[in-house]
Amino acid sequence: MAVLNILNYPDPRLHKVAAVVHVVSDKHKKLIRDMADTMYQAPGIGLAATQVDFHERIIVIDISEKKNNLHVLVNPEIIEMRGEQICEEGCLSVPGIYEKVKRSEWIKFRALDIEGNPYEMEAEGLLAVCVQHEMDHLLGKVFVEYLSPLKRNRIKSKLVKQKKQKLIL
Ligand code: NI
Repeated sequence: MAVLNILNYPDPRLHKVAAVVHVVSDKHKKLIRDMADTMYQAPGIGLAATQVDFHERIIVIDISEKKNNLHVLVNPEIIEMRGEQICEEGCLSVPGIYEKVKRSEWIKFRALDIEGNPYEMEAEGLLAVCVQHEMDHLLGKVFVEYLSPLKRNRIKSKLVKQKKQKLIL
């Protein structure tokens, strides 16, 4: 088990755009297992490779209560979306901040699994929110960027202050 360091907003590395995975190699498989460990330990329900400073299109998600239903999304692509939902979101890279974000209610996506096999899946509600949130990370986008500049700056200064306090201690 390896728990990776999670980047915190406003770290500029969170804005890097992730590259497509050409082959799911042993290195990627190890990263995926480490990302799952990191997500479970945090604890969180989703994690994108960008958040652990690895810039290829990989996501892990587990919204189950027992934490026994891991979804691995390599090179995810949304192929259909429907409806609208507003959900209060948090993010492991933006600790302590929860804000309402508007997303599609239902999506259909395709991705590769940990073995590199392609699959398609439909998701709604929380799982749909989670996939859309994590896919934004791969594009270098953090959920607070949906908020007004005023609100976003307030969050930014709060997190920078928290970080400074941590460094002093
Ligand atoms: Ni996040």
